[in-house]
Amino acid sequence: MPRLAASRLKELLNELRIVVVNGPRQCGKTTLLQSCRRFGDATFATLDDPSQLAIARDDPRTFARQQPQPVIID
Ligand SMILES: Nc1ncnc2c1ncn2[C@@H]1O[C@H](COP(=O)(O)OP(=O)(O)O)[C@@H](O)[C@H]1O
Ligand SMILES: [Mg+2]
Repeated sequence: MPRLAASRLKELLNELRIVVVNGPRQCGKTTLLQSCRRFGDATFATLDDPSQLAIARDDPRTFARQQPQPVIID
């Protein structure tokens, strides 16, 4: 199903350096983020991956720097 949030997200990505997508579990955040990859090439990092989550917790600056930009962090 198409989402109203997708077009709003696309607009915001053109204007802002960082966009946060917030919402309850199972509301479609991951699906929305995956769909927005088609707006351009972006690195996709998922914190559902325990090893990525461990790196991000341990050293968030290094974690952020090591992702080629733009980056989607789920
Ligand atoms: N636009 C949509 N229309 C219908 N179902 C959707 C839509 N977006 C996500 N879903 C379904 O809802 C469930 C939760 O989506 P998910 O993206 O994993 O949510 P979240 O990351 O917010 O927990 C999945 O089964 C997904 O297939
Ligand atoms: Mg998710």
